[in-house]
Amino acid sequence: MKENSNKNKLKDFLSANPQKWYSGNDLAQALAISRTAIWKLIKQLSQEGLEIQSRHHLGYRLLLSDHLNKTWIAKKIKKDLPPSRLFIFPTIDSTNIFAKREISEHNDRIVIVIADRQTEGHGRFQRKFYSPAKSGLYLSIAIPLKGDQTVSAGLLTTATAVAVGRSIKEVFGVQLDYKWVNDLYLSERKVGGILTEAITDFESNSISSLVVGIGLNLSLDQNELPIDLRDKIAGIAENGQEKRNQIAAAVINNFFKLFKNYQDGRFLDEYRKNSFLIGRKIQAHSGQRTVAGTAIAIDDQGSLIILEENKKIKIQSGEVTKVDF
Ligand code: BTN
Repeated sequence: MKENSNKNKLKDFLSANPQKWYSGNDLAQALAISRTAIWKLIKQLSQEGLEIQSRHHLGYRLLLSDHLNKTWIAKKIKKDLPPSRLFIFPTIDSTNIFAKREISEHNDRIVIVIADRQTEGHGRFQRKFYSPAKSGLYLSIAIPLKGDQTVSAGLLTTATAVAVGRSIKEVFGVQLDYKWVNDLYLSERKVGGILTEAITDFESNSISSLVVGIGLNLSLDQNELPIDLRDKIAGIAENGQEKRNQIAAAVINNFFKLFKNYQDGRFLDEYRKNSFLIGRKIQAHSGQRTVAGTAIAIDDQGSLIILEENKKIKIQSGEVTKVDF
């Protein structure tokens, strides 16, 4: 039992400053145990899959690699974020399902959940979202709303896309394209998507909380993809999975920065500038309706404007099914 708690203490200690070298002596002092005990714990943690490097004159360090590191992410999340609870799972059905369940039970604090792998990852219209282990980021944020808060679905999804785009730019230096309304593209391939859901309170018939799910393919081996997904989806960077912790923290920070005032739509110029659709011939479905024409604008509510036979048509919700057809 004691050994187990020392093991967790050591894991937290190393996780707080990954990449930093600590001598056996530093660690022994920090945990108030012997150097031999430290050595044994390091061996156990390594056997459990934690990537700890050891060097003769330097000591030990935890590599900030493809393991989701809760301590590190929690430390990087800006202190001025609203109160939240952070969960990290090796495998989960879907981070959106978990977040919805959790916020329905405890509606007092934000829930942030990240998983290494999802067995039931899904996108809009219940489509499967391919979520293999160690190659993507699967993250959901559930936000309780106060009674009088209104929600604009179009603005929330587009703001989230911009938050993810900013994060990818910060960490990988590349700019994503936004395919209205919730898809994220790079070099004409889908690299991620956003699923925004609302939980309604039956009694007041108002929205009691929001769940925003973000799925990113950070690195994908094209040869391992299911056949129907080849040529459609791609990863963002080679070895992109090694930056999952940085991406997770950046997405959370950028999301909350934008969420504060997303309803003013000030971020929309950034969305428009990197639109995957504007100027292209597209086909879109909204309810029973199909519209085909040129995508010409995103309006101030995040709706898509299509020019169909000289008539401007506004699509508030729906999806684009064909591009350059
Ligand atoms: C789409 O492509 O339509 C949106 C995909 C959203 C996937 C993310 S992954 C994290 C969260 N959990 C889910 O089951 N879905 C979202």
